[in-house]
Amino acid sequence: MDLGIRGQACLIVGGARGIGYATAQALAAEGVKLALADIDGAAASNSATRLAEASGTQVVGLPVDITNLDQVRNLVTQAEAAIGPLSILINSAAVLDDKLFVDSQPSDWKRMIDVCLFGPMNVIHTVLPGMMQRRYGRIVCLASDSARMGQARLSYYAAAKGGVVALTKSIAQEVGTTGVTLNILSPGATNTELRQAREVKMRAEMGEEKYARREKTVLRMYPVGRIGEPEDIASAVTFLVSKRASWITGQVLSVNGGFAMP
Ligand SMILES: NC(=O)c1ccc[n+]([C@@H]2O[C@H](COP(=O)([O-])OP(=O)(O)OC[C@H]3O[C@@H](n4cnc5c(N)ncnc54)[C@H](O)[C@@H]3O)[C@@H](O)[C@H]2O)c1
Repeated sequence: MDLGIRGQACLIVGGARGIGYATAQALAAEGVKLALADIDGAAASNSATRLAEASGTQVVGLPVDITNLDQVRNLVTQAEAAIGPLSILINSAAVLDDKLFVDSQPSDWKRMIDVCLFGPMNVIHTVLPGMMQRRYGRIVCLASDSARMGQARLSYYAAAKGGVVALTKSIAQEVGTTGVTLNILSPGATNTELRQAREVKMRAEMGEEKYARREKTVLRMYPVGRIGEPEDIASAVTFLVSKRASWITGQVLSVNGGFAMP
């Protein structure tokens, strides 16, 4: 199927690694020009260079802290100067904090909401007017099944992601007639550095035996029998940002091996 996105320009926030980078790889294979933005600017540059060499597509890496609106505005100016007016935006940046709510502090909640909710707000608010003016755009925000199901030890992460779902649906209603669609991709457990870091911490805290039992329990919760790989998510995002998905907006798509069927 021709996705109709060859030559389009896409900004991926949190694009240096993980799901963001896997999505960049999938879009590069479709001939999309890419700006990979990340708080780890060196990693964004390295990933961009690697992908440009592997795919022959134009890819730039740019530094940004999405909690800072001035930096986001500067990022979008730089990205558009490099690859042209943006048709596609993917919000993949996030942090994780594995803690019981009673053990957490207001500073933990603030950091989480700043990155995982204000971050996407800053980016969408900056990119959307241009898309509306050009009467075309595709925006996908990464949320999480923890927002749909609730998840112990991830309460304020889940709360921020629930906010992203509500934000994205609401903006989709506001701009529906302008040719801009916004959707939410809600992954289940996916094998990235974000998840791996949490697993390493859990393993150390639980000990080998308890952790091995937990791993088995987790796998039983996934009818497909495995957790996800970044490429599993990237394929679905690629379809949602394609021209073919013009009648899909304000939707939450769980890509999760059947973990949750809400
Ligand atoms: N991996 C999973 O199991 C999983 C499950 C559900 C949802 N998700 C969501 O999918 C998305 C991608 O997750 P991932 O596993 O690829 O994570 P990841 O940690 O591998 O990648 C996230 C990237 O965001 C960047 N980032 C963090 N804070 C930033 C900031 N303030 N400004 C700019 N960049 C910043 C990080 O440097 C990192 O490169 C996230 O939104 C995450 O919440 C992941």
